[in-house]
Amino acid sequence: MTQTGMPVHAVGWSPAGGLHLLDQRALPEREVLLTPRTIEEVADAIRTLAVRGAPAIGVAAAIGLASSLPRATLAEVESAAALLRATRPTAVNLGWALDRMLAAARAAVDAAVDAAVDAADASGDALDKAMRAEAEAIRAEDEAMCRAIGAHGQPWMEPGIGVLTHCNAGALATAGIGTALAPLYVAHARGVTPHVFACETRPLLQGARLTAWELRRAGIPVTVITDGMAASVLASGTVALVIVGADRIAANGDVANKVGTYGLAVLAKHHGIPFVVAAPWSTVDLATPDGASIEIEMRAREELTVLGGRQVVPAGAEVHNPAFDVTPHTLITAMITDRGVLRPPFPFVVTSALVPPPV
Ligand code: MRU
Repeated sequence: MTQTGMPVHAVGWSPAGGLHLLDQRALPEREVLLTPRTIEEVADAIRTLAVRGAPAIGVAAAIGLASSLPRATLAEVESAAALLRATRPTAVNLGWALDRMLAAARAAVDAAVDAAVDAADASGDALDKAMRAEAEAIRAEDEAMCRAIGAHGQPWMEPGIGVLTHCNAGALATAGIGTALAPLYVAHARGVTPHVFACETRPLLQGARLTAWELRRAGIPVTVITDGMAASVLASGTVALVIVGADRIAANGDVANKVGTYGLAVLAKHHGIPFVVAAPWSTVDLATPDGASIEIEMRAREELTVLGGRQVVPAGAEVHNPAFDVTPHTLITAMITDRGVLRPPFPFVVTSALVPPPV
């Protein structure tokens, strides 16, 4: 959403039918559009965070797979999916989207082989068509899930509420209006504008560079703070809600999200402030029993040692750079999903307990 009401499209289809990305590495200084054409270019865009945020990388992988391998064989599609899957291990949406794409591809090839005389030829066309349709379904569903999360989050949106968030779980991280930021956008559209405190999110500054950029475009006031200021800001009484996204939600409700999230949950509990996670159902991973079983992506040393082109850590000092941490479910007040709001003990297996998304 922008001041002119136009949504920011972080990921989608290019006019030529390929993958379109807004290069998040260049923000907030420049708005650069990318159209990765080969599967290696798609993998590189995900690995280097040109596109990032759990739902957005799932959508990018799906559209990238569908558009970069014209008339490929099923074996070529499977090997391309394996390349994309290995780019970032923590966000479950990536593997979830690739599994859906592979299932659609296999079903299309089976059907074409059953029906066609020239099986190889027919399966190429059928595979292209099926993968494009599935990628579009994944994109459109993500957009709809964001809208539903936005609607389900309205009970928290008191006029003028101070809201603290971490990293970027907004439009830039999804194919829609975001997850953690979706309730804020919906509230703003109905005249209930929150004031957002965005943790800068070291080391790659997704909060300062991306969350502040998209909120300002939408006309929502935002104050950027360093990660170390969160405790005093929460103690000051100006924040009534902490809301974050998620990269993977384990079956017991533990949540992996950007490193620093766990500390915010501890702080929120100490200050009696609700700590809410907003995520689509595609981020729930029932195959992972708990947070300890979630693989945490480790990133390059240089992300910490170099700041603004300058060496800020002496040679010889060791560096620890996990991209995510795990917040135990016991610290989470509620989860806003597209299927409704979950309260402890987070009954993911009892989906019938949930209310349907609003229309
Ligand atoms: O490393 P990133 O920038 O991909 O990390 C993103 C986050 O941690 C987000 O909070 C999460 O993916 C949810 S996005 C809706």
